[in-house]
Amino acid sequence: MTTTRTRVAIIGAGPSGLLLGALLHKAGIEHVIIDRQSPDYVLGRIRAGILEQVTVDLLHEAGVGHGVDSDGNVHRSIELVFKNTRHPIDVTGLTKGKVVTAYGQTELTRDLMKHRSQLGLPTVYEAAEVQLHDFDSTHPEVTYSKDGVSHSLQCDFIAGCDGFHGVARASVPLGAITEYEKVYPFAWLGVLADVPPVSSHAIVYANSKRGFALCSMRSMTRSRYYVQCPSSDKVEDWNDRRFWDEIRTRLDPELAERMQTGPSIEKSMTPLRSFVAEPMRFGHLFLAGDAAHIVPPTGAKGLNLAAGDVKYLSSALIEHYQDKSDAGIDTYSQRALSRIWRAERFSWWLTTLMHRFPESGAFGQRMQEAELDYLVHSQALSTSLAENYVGLPLDFG
Ligand code: APR
Ligand code: PHB
Repeated sequence: MTTTRTRVAIIGAGPSGLLLGALLHKAGIEHVIIDRQSPDYVLGRIRAGILEQVTVDLLHEAGVGHGVDSDGNVHRSIELVFKNTRHPIDVTGLTKGKVVTAYGQTELTRDLMKHRSQLGLPTVYEAAEVQLHDFDSTHPEVTYSKDGVSHSLQCDFIAGCDGFHGVARASVPLGAITEYEKVYPFAWLGVLADVPPVSSHAIVYANSKRGFALCSMRSMTRSRYYVQCPSSDKVEDWNDRRFWDEIRTRLDPELAERMQTGPSIEKSMTPLRSFVAEPMRFGHLFLAGDAAHIVPPTGAKGLNLAAGDVKYLSSALIEHYQDKSDAGIDTYSQRALSRIWRAERFSWWLTTLMHRFPESGAFGQRMQEAELDYLVHSQALSTSLAENYVGLPLDFG
């Protein structure tokens, strides 16, 4: 068994762990990141890619904003489709000039990985049997094995950034944690294809009798599209032809006509779930990102919520080491959770408004259409949509 010491042990090298590492490094706080997968595996998972300004600012603060600056695509509106008609929502006009930036999570993760390796910061990939110990004391420890050798990492704090299926949340005694969950009765089938996006300046969210559809992009030559499908469907049930035929039926005639199709380069299923674990601090262990909460992808809040957690947590740890104050540590969970519940509400609302729910029938469809009709004609409701879409400020209320 080898033994190493650091200040913060970060479990998970997804966006949360990597961004936390970059911010701690900038403040001179020593840390180690441990992940059970390889870098290629982490990069292979295709996720949403709409960044709030708060997230873009944090990437700059961490010294990794160049990629989003050069390759991100600024969006000032969204398009809502219902009853086969498209309605633009002027997000920027409704929020006094705010925008979101389309930049894929894969690209963002790659930027963070490159930054980390250029700085020579320690990351252990393909670590097996990761275990957390004594985080209710001042001397927590993380043990793992790598290439058959056992390691012990002793630290002051552990940051559990290891996603929904990680070990950090699972290590907390059952009585100390409360979990809230809603699983939706459908999934998204996502396709990535090297065709120009049908709408390059705005994401298209479509409510149709056949279910929800979404048109997004990764670049001017790469599109990311989704259709709602039954949770029981398998990727193999959807050949490219079936996917393109289906998504066209869910859009308005002009978009359907304009949509260019091509061979998929990736195809995957995403289950839809809302989940929150409370609290997010257990002594010297903190949870951040998907380890503590999941939103359904409608609205693209997952990555932005992770960034918010990381901002609160890095500030708290910096305050602890630089100012000898634990005020940020003591309020971390409460601050993060109030932002999280607001985004949970928004993601649940948009999901409920846009999808076909098998049990709600024709009346449910009419209610959705009436609400969408009200939304596109009401400055009050469209402002509410817009201010949530661009992201609420970190110090909101
Ligand atoms: N030990 C070590 N590492 C682990 C373990 C474990 N037992 N379990 C999981 N991990 C690693 C995974 O391999 C992954 O690289 O933790 C990382 C978690 O990354 P993500 O799941 O991407 O979570 P997070 O960094 O919080 O990112 C949040 O991801 O799901 C999206 O919408 C979400 O965009 C948001 C973002
Ligand atoms: C995506 O680009 O993958 C995406 C965009 C917006 C969403 C969800 C996913 O709401």
